Amino acid sequence: MKHIIAIDGPAAAGKSTVAKKLAADLGYTYIDTGAMYRAVALACLDRGIPLADEKCCGEIAASCHIALKPVAEGCLVMLDGEDVTEKIRIPLIAQGASKVSAIPAVRQALVAKQRQMAEDCNVVVEGRDIGTIVFPEADCKIFLSASLEKRAARRYEEFKKKGNDIPLADVTAEMAERDERDSCRDHSPLKQAEDAVYLDSSNLTLAQVVAFVKKQMTGEK
Ligand code: DC
Repeated sequence: MKHIIAIDGPAAAGKSTVAKKLAADLGYTYIDTGAMYRAVALACLDRGIPLADEKCCGEIAASCHIALKPVAEGCLVMLDGEDVTEKIRIPLIAQGASKVSAIPAVRQALVAKQRQMAEDCNVVVEGRDIGTIVFPEADCKIFLSASLEKRAARRYEEFKKKGNDIPLADVTAEMAERDERDSCRDHSPLKQAEDAVYLDSSNLTLAQVVAFVKKQMTGEK
């Protein structure tokens, strides 16, 4: 039987790190749906398409080719054959992804791609609407969160490690704005599925969160 682990939650709650580790430990395929929305935002911006143009953004989402190529550290994000893994990790693209993800036609196109990717393999999928919309039948659903302060501090450190010294206040404001937009949009807002288990990762290590999810998978208390 095919297994699906769904991990939803706000930005920088630790979803990617946990999902990658789980996928590596279990031999499952890792699907980063946020990266797909980021790729669409990049494709639109590269073509000079305003992110408020729902029709054009929807057409781009339906016609562009996005592939998540598994590698040891997670996955490479390929957009029309180009490796955009690093390019999509800047605040401009994060905000852009949040904007295009509110467009129903964009969501429709990407949700279809996500379901296709999981057709014949076990998967760990992270995003905002995985447990509610994309895979409501998932075997294990986790809603991972953490305080805004912790999440912003984590993202700030990640940027800094890459030589990108963005002030903590800017990182915090960007994240709060994105969370608000992602939670308040009309279509598939960020929301905990009724049957998802909530976990606050503010004071937990990666190993603790991974162990918690594995326990949920086996039904252990
Ligand atoms: O997980 P992330 O920060 O890479 O996601 C970028 C944006 O994409 C996020 O602000 C909202 C959107 N997104 C979404 O709407 N649905 C998903 N399943 C994943 C991401």
